Amino acid sequence: MLERLSYTSKETEPFGTRDLFDLLNHAREKNARLRLTGHLLYAHGVFTQCIEGPTEALNSLWAALLKDPRHHDVQLLDRSPIDHRSFADWSMAFSSYRYLNAFNMPGFFPIDEGGASPQSQMCKGEAGQAAPS
Ligand SMILES: Cc1cc2nc3c(=O)[nH]c(=O)nc-3n(C[C@H](O)[C@H](O)[C@H](O)COP(=O)(O)O)c2cc1C
Repeated sequence: MLERLSYTSKETEPFGTRDLFDLLNHAREKNARLRLTGHLLYAHGVFTQCIEGPTEALNSLWAALLKDPRHHDVQLLDRSPIDHRSFADWSMAFSSYRYLNAFNMPGFFPIDEGGASPQSQMCKGEAGQAAPS
């Protein structure tokens, strides 16, 4: 069964370009192995992430995320079964400030002044659960 999970969290220390690059490289490699896809938004020190994939892989990543000291105040927004992936092409698409893409990451989408990108808007879940702006 495929599920989609979304949550928000707050950074513990400010993330720099290198921190985000390393986080994403590791996440993308592991997600590809676990058949997870999704989107990560980083704006105003807040992460909003949408992860989709098989239940067991989601359980395993969720347990790891809850223990990760790089963020805190992790709040589950939604977890629901899905019949198709919204982010099938990305092991973890990433939307954030343009200046944070110094390494020209593939799957990077710049956010507007409102702290959103078209891709981050797709991370709303089928129940219409909106990510906070
Ligand atoms: C905001 C945020 C998002 C993350 N997203 C992912 C992710 O999509 N996939 C992933 O494997 N790890 C992600 N991580 C890292 C995990 O919390 C954890 O450190 C990692 O999965 C452990 O990998 P390991 O099993 O190779 O030690 C994220 C961490 C943070 C702080």
